Amino acid sequence: MDTALITVPQHVAIIMDGNGRWAKNQNKPRVFGHRQGVEAVRAIVEHCGRIGVEHLTVFAFSSENWSRPPAEVKLLMELLAKGLHDDLDRLHRNDVRLSILGDLSAFPKRLQQKLNSALELTKNNTGLHLNVAINYGGRWDITQAAKQLVTQVSAGELQEGDITEDSLSALMNTATTPDPDLLIRTGGESRISNFLLWQCAYAELYFTDIYWPDFDEAAIDAAFAWYVGRQRRYGKTGEQITQEA
Ligand code: IPE
Ligand code: IPE
Ligand code: MG
Repeated sequence: MDTALITVPQHVAIIMDGNGRWAKNQNKPRVFGHRQGVEAVRAIVEHCGRIGVEHLTVFAFSSENWSRPPAEVKLLMELLAKGLHDDLDRLHRNDVRLSILGDLSAFPKRLQQKLNSALELTKNNTGLHLNVAINYGGRWDITQAAKQLVTQVSAGELQEGDITEDSLSALMNTATTPDPDLLIRTGGESRISNFLLWQCAYAELYFTDIYWPDFDEAAIDAAFAWYVGRQRRYGKTGEQITQEA
């Protein structure tokens, strides 16, 4: 597909699902799927940067994924640390600005430090903004934003009447990023799994059966092509939108 002809969404969010089943289909351990999943992330990040996506948010580890067998959790943490180590220079060279969504306090101090120095290194880059969601949960994000509001009101810094959707949004982990235009979930499930609950209020939802390790440039271009055909009405009528255009 000629990507020059595709209008790309400004913010794409992806629930990267299906690593385990991809591996199982080949009689391989789940680990194998996660490793291959990292390759898929690399290719998608490069492609998104190349074709002009401004913000890409990938769900790498949910707050619920701690419930997996300890060996799998450990492996996922190792892959995260290794990915950061192996890819940071290249991401920086490619002008990628890295952000993290999620509660980092649960991670080992060393990993936290590495993540923070990666954020620092890339903070002035002007290319693709890559948000990696780790130990992230949509309900956690809303809750921590609400707690901050309560603190501000208790301290007299904010009046209850000043609380708006925008003031809550500004305290979410995604504060500086516009809401996703397109949410993609691979792996055949049609659910949000506690991802960007607040932020996806008006996202276009795209579900594909493709397992994450097989999700390639052609697959994301197909999602973009589908997205271009959506009419985003935000509560208005189709006729109003056509007239405005
Ligand atoms: C997604 O693939 C990766 C993570 C959630 C970390 P899964 O590991 O969920 O793969 P399936 O859904 O079991 O196939
Ligand atoms: C969602 O996938 C989380 C990530 C992709 C990181 P899961 O595989 O954890 O979701 P459920 O458990 O099937 O809903
Ligand atoms: Mg899964």
